[in-house]
Amino acid sequence: MAINIVSDEFPLKVFHATPRATVGWGAYQMAGVEAKRIGIEHALLVTTGLKGTGIIDEIKGVLNHAGVEVTIFDKVTSNPKDYEVHDAYKVYKEAKCDGFVSVGGGSAHDCAKAVRIVETKGGQSIRDFNGVNDFEVPVNIPHLAITTTCGTGSETTYACVITDTDKKFKMLIFEPSAYATRALVDPALMRSLPPKLTAFTGIDALVHCLEAYTSRLNVVTSWAIGLYGIEIISKNLRDAFANGNNAKAREAMAWAQYCGGHAINSGAACVVHSIAHSLGGLLDGPHGLCNSIALVPSQRFNYIASPEKFANVARAMGVDTTGMTTIQAAERAVDELEKLIKDLEVTETFSELGLQEDNIDQVAEYAFRDFCTMANPRDLNREIIKDLLRQCM
Ligand SMILES: [Fe+2]
Repeated sequence: MAINIVSDEFPLKVFHATPRATVGWGAYQMAGVEAKRIGIEHALLVTTGLKGTGIIDEIKGVLNHAGVEVTIFDKVTSNPKDYEVHDAYKVYKEAKCDGFVSVGGGSAHDCAKAVRIVETKGGQSIRDFNGVNDFEVPVNIPHLAITTTCGTGSETTYACVITDTDKKFKMLIFEPSAYATRALVDPALMRSLPPKLTAFTGIDALVHCLEAYTSRLNVVTSWAIGLYGIEIISKNLRDAFANGNNAKAREAMAWAQYCGGHAINSGAACVVHSIAHSLGGLLDGPHGLCNSIALVPSQRFNYIASPEKFANVARAMGVDTTGMTTIQAAERAVDELEKLIKDLEVTETFSELGLQEDNIDQVAEYAFRDFCTMANPRDLNREIIKDLLRQCM
């Protein structure tokens, strides 16, 4: 169904660059060559550790084989914290590294981007860069991002999300020069993702595609990439969840997460991410899990604001909408999302993450003030967000 592309709300669009990426089986074996090509002689390898997978030892070996020295910083956690950024910066300086290799999902990539910002700004606190930046002197410290989850897309984006641990607030740091220099996206590294993490990160990718497609920024390239990403995910995420060794599904999900990153990089995320950021900052709720919980209530609220797009989402998810009105088809999209969440056995609630009636005001306040809120297709206020939060409890 054709969508009217005229937009008077955000008439000027900004298309952000994405780094050169190599996608496919065995891409990680290019790590040494790629690191060398972008000028890294001594890498700080930034990671959560990925314990039990053997991935870090393997990539360190590939880098060393190419003559790249490696110092490992493996203290990054989910919802990476401001002090982790500065701890990594200290190791980077002490070891006299000259570039970064981040290995993992969004936490590792975002932490590496943030350390590069700190180094570019001479050691200044990462807390000084919350919001939209546009540095006169760009971030040009080489960074190779190697992705191991099917959700983040962070290897393509110019943003990093870091928790201010004093305010318990997730900062959205946008700096157009902060994207990684090059990226490797390898489904082979995703095979060890357990089913739960496959589900949560896969839903994160779905939310990137969906929110960028339905956002009121109306960036046409994000529509194309986002809508196709939704189709790939609805056809493959269940298979990747049910059988982690399903090569076809793993490869499809590697592409899907890459599509999601491209889509939000210019098209923006919306209220699901506002809520996930707030829960992540205040209660350290895992990003993909928060998205998975918030997805259905928020889209049941949103779909009437953009029925043509949601009808297209239904079709991308395999619904035969013949004979349906546009609004009926749009509602079916939300039903399909709900069915996917059930099939992936997401039964957690925000109450289990620590959300209670006495902290709901603060969670809603942070979510309302989040950058993503202004892109949401349907108007929001604090009371609506509180209602959405209560539905997730
Ligand atoms: Fe996300």
